[in-house]
This record gives sequence, C-alpha cells and structure tokens, in this order.
Amino acid sequence: MNVQITFLPSGRSVTVRAGTTVLDAARRAGVPIRTRCDGKAACLMCKVTTPHSSPGLSPLNDNERYKLAGLDRSGTRLACQARVFGRAVVEVPEDPFRAAVRRQMMRQAEDDELW
Ligand code: FES
Repeated sequence: MNVQITFLPSGRSVTVRAGTTVLDAARRAGVPIRTRCDGKAACLMCKVTTPHSSPGLSPLNDNERYKLAGLDRSGTRLACQARVFGRAVVEVPEDPFRAAVRRQMMRQAEDDELW
C-alpha cells in the first residue's frame, strides 16, 4: 500500500510505501532533514513536528519516547523513527544556520531602510 506525506513549510508531497520512515520519505521528496547518526535515533537532529496531529504516523516506539523525553506531548517526532502508514503532514524546522543568515539579512534590510 502506498501513502502520501506532505512536508511543511515547503508543501512538498511524496507517495511512499507504507512503513517508510519520515526521514526516508523526506529524502525522496527532496526535503532536507539534518542528521548526524543517519537514522539510528542517536543524534536527535531529525526532530519534526506534527502540526495537525497526523494520524498517519506510527505510534512512538520505546526508543523514540525515551529520546524525546516528553517533547512528544507537543507533537515532536524523530523523523528517523516515525513511520508513515497513512496520510500525514509534518513540519520540518528551518535549518539553524539558514535561520541565522535569514535573520541577519532581515536586520541588514531594516538598517538599510533607516538610511
Ligand atoms: S537521524 Fe539521528 S536521531 Fe534521527
């Protein structure tokens, strides 16, 4: 069975086989999710959120629950552990480096307007 997952904020969607991890689905969709452990639930860099409480994702496994230490209550999931079993929507946080560059550029633009 194939299922669809959508990544926010880009809005990119991809259809994958049921049981595919969110991380693998993101790679197929061309959506970058940072990782250092390559999906072994060790680096905790692959956090995504489920803004619409996606029922299409697998329930937390014990390892993911332990690693998230309560963050799951606010909708956070590890992309390498959560699997897609139905229509799902997840939000990928902006890369911290890109966010810093964007903030710097916004400050520069504001400064330029003042002159
Ligand atoms: S990829 Fe490292 S914890 Fe998910």
